[in-house]
Amino acid sequence: MSQTIISLLNKTKIDYSWSFSDKTRKDTAYITHGYHRYPAKFIPQIVSRLAEKYTSKGDLIVDPFGGCGTTLVESKVMGRLSIGVDINPVAVLITKAKITPIDPKKVERVFTALKGKLDTYNKDTKVKAPEHERIDYWFKPEEKRKLAFIFTEILKLRDRDIRDFFYCGFSNILKNCSIWLQKSNKPTRDLIKKPSDPIQTFFKQVKMMMRGNARFYELSKQRNHLEVPSQVYCTDARTIPVKDNAVSLVVTSPPYVTSYEYADLHQLTALWMEYTKDLSDFRKRFIGTSYHNKKDLVLNSVLAEKIRNELLGKDKKTAEEVSTYFSEMNQVFAEMKRMLKKGGKTCIVIGNTSLKGVEILNAEVFAEQLQNLGLKILNIIKREIPSKNLPSVRDEKTGRFARITDKNKTYAYPTEYILVMEK
Ligand SMILES: C[S@@+](CC[C@H](N)C(=O)[O-])C[C@H]1O[C@@H](n2cnc3c(N)ncnc32)[C@H](O)[C@@H]1O
Repeated sequence: MSQTIISLLNKTKIDYSWSFSDKTRKDTAYITHGYHRYPAKFIPQIVSRLAEKYTSKGDLIVDPFGGCGTTLVESKVMGRLSIGVDINPVAVLITKAKITPIDPKKVERVFTALKGKLDTYNKDTKVKAPEHERIDYWFKPEEKRKLAFIFTEILKLRDRDIRDFFYCGFSNILKNCSIWLQKSNKPTRDLIKKPSDPIQTFFKQVKMMMRGNARFYELSKQRNHLEVPSQVYCTDARTIPVKDNAVSLVVTSPPYVTSYEYADLHQLTALWMEYTKDLSDFRKRFIGTSYHNKKDLVLNSVLAEKIRNELLGKDKKTAEEVSTYFSEMNQVFAEMKRMLKKGGKTCIVIGNTSLKGVEILNAEVFAEQLQNLGLKILNIIKREIPSKNLPSVRDEKTGRFARITDKNKTYAYPTEYILVMEK
């Protein structure tokens, strides 16, 4: 079976209508989508197109790897009920803020009062700054004091939704206000960085969010969707709080093996919000992390076994990490099948990678695992991931900078698949 799947995916042509290359950052960050940066988030247009095709108003959509809530926001806009889970509490905080339209007048009122208070800050202002060596590792004393002041004032807000809205804004400014190397997704310090001023940066962030909230609120009100249920839970993708046979559509983009360490990436927010004191324990709960489990691995795919064996010849640790990943993903797929209605669809957005010179055919393995669990392939979409900033390369002959799109280059945009499977 794995050979048939490999050739099916190989012969799938790119469908350019799924690239959405005409969409600008403004389109992909519309309403609340631009509240917070999040690594590897997908664009809302993918979700809305799939939801349009495979669901009707009132159906339930689930995202087991919800991330910053793209699926849930789009579901709400379209009047679909939705449930998202993520193991990362930072993702849950962001999602909660993004799926909750708040009366713009109310946000304006609270912000005016909060701003008034924050504007009174001076060097004599009494502030109870947190005592945590990791906070001191990332923040200089001046920024730490200001951030602590903002944080304490948010904590005083009584309305839970409003508080989460401002916490989300607070979370998104932490990187700029710290000495985290700005361009890096890895936890690296930049000792000569001049961090942004927390209070001014916070004001700017909140104003951007207020514009997004106002648009989201108006749109939801116009469509009568303000009360459409949307829930996010901080839990594992293998234990989703949804009844059997209840879901019309699953849309998700899973984590990749040893790609992003979400636990490390979101440690600034996790530290301030006190989500975790022990980073190493936190890490283990993520699928795709470099932590690996050697026991009871069920890969449920001939191709996954083949990839493991190939890797074993190169690097044992990587082989174990990849096997753990495929085995854990298989458990997530079993959970998806349990939740889906008969005829329900699952759409998995995934690309292939390579590790230690071995091709990690995620899409092919996932399709095989899902088939072995009893789902059938309904459609395979291959899409190009357009990059707005094409990197330039040096021309091999002249040494001059050349555009990657020059005719003499055989550069291809990165691609990924959307596997559409049916129960
Ligand atoms: C590629 S991201 C999803 C991004 C999402 N589509 C969006 O638009 O924001 C993968 C997500 O899987 C989450 N994740 C990793 N392991 C998990 C687990 N065991 N259970 C639930 N979520 C998990 C990560 O925290 C991360 O947010």
